[in-house]
Amino acid sequence: MGKRIVVGVAGGIAAYKACSLIRLFTEAGHQVRVIPTESALNFVGAATFEALSGQPVQTGVFADVPEVAHVRLGQQADLVVVAPATADLLARAAAGRADDLLTATLLTAHAPVLFAPAMHTEMWLHPATVENVATLRRRGAVVLDPAAGRLTGTDSGPGRLPEPEEIAALAGLLLDRADALPRDLTGRKILITAGGTREPLDPVRFIGNRSSGKQGYAVARVAAQRGAEVTLIGANTRALADPAGVEMVRVGSAAELAETVAKRTPEADALVMAAAVADFRPTRVAGAKMKKGADSEPSAIELVRNDDVLATAVADRADGRLPRLSAIVGFAAETGDAAGDVLFHGRAKLRRKGCDLLVVNAVGDGKAFEVDHNAGWLLAADGSESVLEQGSKTLMASRIVDAMVGLLRA
Ligand code: CTP
Repeated sequence: MGKRIVVGVAGGIAAYKACSLIRLFTEAGHQVRVIPTESALNFVGAATFEALSGQPVQTGVFADVPEVAHVRLGQQADLVVVAPATADLLARAAAGRADDLLTATLLTAHAPVLFAPAMHTEMWLHPATVENVATLRRRGAVVLDPAAGRLTGTDSGPGRLPEPEEIAALAGLLLDRADALPRDLTGRKILITAGGTREPLDPVRFIGNRSSGKQGYAVARVAAQRGAEVTLIGANTRALADPAGVEMVRVGSAAELAETVAKRTPEADALVMAAAVADFRPTRVAGAKMKKGADSEPSAIELVRNDDVLATAVADRADGRLPRLSAIVGFAAETGDAAGDVLFHGRAKLRRKGCDLLVVNAVGDGKAFEVDHNAGWLLAADGSESVLEQGSKTLMASRIVDAMVGLLRA
């Protein structure tokens, strides 16, 4: 069902990215009303916003007075998203000003409010902005952490607007669950693996799997926006945009992934193993491309077992080598067979792996892999089980993070 979304646009160069965001919302079936500030119109014209949203665009409170737009738009919205939110806009919102249509709308909104800041690093780190962000968060607004990277000109650092796809995913999460992004992971270090490993056969070929990395990326995104310091180990996930505010480490094979996890787990409070790690690798890797017809033409591929990364972390913690690690989360993609259904295999895997939480997905028939929606179960070592209802991978991620927060508190 389409919702009513107000998209506020403040005056920064990232205003051009608001156009993609508006597109994503309308394509998802939502009704969008765009409210730019006067200075935003220096970057993108009103006609562009009107064409993209199919709705009139105004910046002040004195246009269309009988409509009482400055009160109505806020009251009727299901969600207000401000992207980009500049330092000035955050200051005006924190001060409770109502000197244009956007700030008036923020004061009358009953719906969740999501600010996606974008500005120069100095402005983001300035104590005035830091205080304004804290004020807005204390009042219940969600203020995203910006991405780090190239800014206008030659500068680089935190202050980039998160990608429109990421803002849209987090906005969708707030429409599903208004309370999904509390800052309850501040000060926690979370290590997350995502994607599918590739086991080389020769310099050109590999044995891989169909994991896209989307579920692990969604967990990283939600955990980071809940305040955690996230390191995301991506196995062959270059097709996906880096989540904002997350440290990325890229790996290829299961051995590289295992080595990186081993190096990073002593620092981590939680380990989330969403990557599909190959259980086997070819015994021999040819140094040159294998040719058909050559003497060396292979007739079979001999395999050897890879280490189980998850089981290693569980064992290391049991031996007292990872005293910080309070939550170990595994994933299981199951099809069910003659021996039992998906849940039967999930319960058995939780016992066998010894992790604290296991996310169980049904796979096959186009389910789970490479798609944006997912469903399953969350099984805990204490025997509790909950259903993960059909929904976006971001919604599923938020349920997984909830359970993880529970373990970290315990
Ligand atoms: N995993 C891992 N190291 C491996 C294989 C898997 O850490 N070498 C992790 C995965 O990241 C996932 C969990 O273990 O979190 C379950 O993966 P799965 O492939 O379902 O487990 P297997 O032990 O390989 O189970 P199966 O008996 O189904 O092969």
